[in-house]
Amino acid sequence: METPRSLRVLLGVTGGIAAYKSPDLVRRLRERGAEVQVVMTAGASRFITALSLQAVSGRPVRQELWDEAAEAAMGHIELARWADAVLVAPATADFLARLAHGRADDLLTTLCLATTAPLTVAPAMNRQMWANPATVANVALLKQRGIGVLGPDEGSQACGEIGAGRMLEPGQLAELLMSQLGADRVLQGLKVVVSAGPTRERLDPVRYISNRSSGKMGYAIAQAARDAGASVVLVSGPAEIDPPTGVEFVAVESARQMRDAVHAALPGADIYIGAAAVADYQAPPAAVQKIKKTSERLKLELTRAPDILASVAGLASGRPFVVGFAAETENVEENARAKLARKGADMIAANRVGDDLAFDRDENSLIVLWDGGREEIPTCGKFELARRLVAVIARVRRATGRAGRTAAVPG
Ligand code: CTP
Repeated sequence: METPRSLRVLLGVTGGIAAYKSPDLVRRLRERGAEVQVVMTAGASRFITALSLQAVSGRPVRQELWDEAAEAAMGHIELARWADAVLVAPATADFLARLAHGRADDLLTTLCLATTAPLTVAPAMNRQMWANPATVANVALLKQRGIGVLGPDEGSQACGEIGAGRMLEPGQLAELLMSQLGADRVLQGLKVVVSAGPTRERLDPVRYISNRSSGKMGYAIAQAARDAGASVVLVSGPAEIDPPTGVEFVAVESARQMRDAVHAALPGADIYIGAAAVADYQAPPAAVQKIKKTSERLKLELTRAPDILASVAGLASGRPFVVGFAAETENVEENARAKLARKGADMIAANRVGDDLAFDRDENSLIVLWDGGREEIPTCGKFELARRLVAVIARVRRATGRAGRTAAVPG
């Protein structure tokens, strides 16, 4: 995993017993190349001194919103802007509640409101406090707003009880945070073509056959690839969501149009991700006039639609790294492995569908398969899922040397 150069982490420390682990956390983050600025709450200073945190971070610790001397050096808004990432560890139940409700009654909560950097919390508290419906609701709200939640772990607690509520170990936290952030630019300088949404095969001027697909997953992948530094072309069938900004958007209708648009976008592409629900069968050239109900039965003869994924995977030259999807109702992994081989793709991301799973839902899970490897991405929001999938694609593409176009060009 690449560590971004001098990434600036603002570490918020709140008043829990786990605050004694903060100096170790600062060291672990610095070992991984981060610059760390510590901000403590009043409660934190009862567990740990600012002096120890200043010694390990090499920077004066900030504690007060109303500290004129410190504000003169770096104001709280500047501090919020300085951060590439904000990590609050340990995050107490009280801090989570204040964050969830948008309070700005001390320096740390004010910073969290003012920053545009990704915000991650590592909760630590007694297991009953963690299980309390108020905390559960606050954490759900934070997650819904895109705030990362790392842990807590299960185990013996400072209060003598055993259960969920322990802060993750500093080494684990540092690794998780840095790999999340490092994953951010893993496609820097690459070109990615994504196909998404359903296709429509026209029967006549007012009717069509189509597949069930909201396009959400494909659009989230396009957005994640863009955020990872790629230039992205998103080829989409009719979907009712807005395309992400900063990607080249090509709207299509039928499977054939999608195939043509994908191939037109491929020159120079390093990765192709086929997330569209392409119709497997198409109608003959659409009737010019509306089909009238003149008989009791209507027979439709359909022919096979082009298989876009297989056509890209089969390219003799200029072949990108090819990632397909497999929506399966049963034997997910077995069917997906067979699909990987049959289509000649480099990777397949499989999910279970049916019974209202996956379609139109904002949460999903994936099993990612490639030749000799697999990785599960557990249930999470589609954007987080897309971000993680992009990280796996970047890693496997590098590791297997199947770098598509770049690998195919000698020298
Ligand atoms: N796909 C494609 N062109 C098609 C059909 C599917 O490019 N005509 C792509 C999809 O975008 C997806 C992958 O192939 O990435 C698998 O799609 P899926 O519908 O699960 O597989 P099928 O090939 O249709 O196989 P089956 O219906 O037998 O499960």
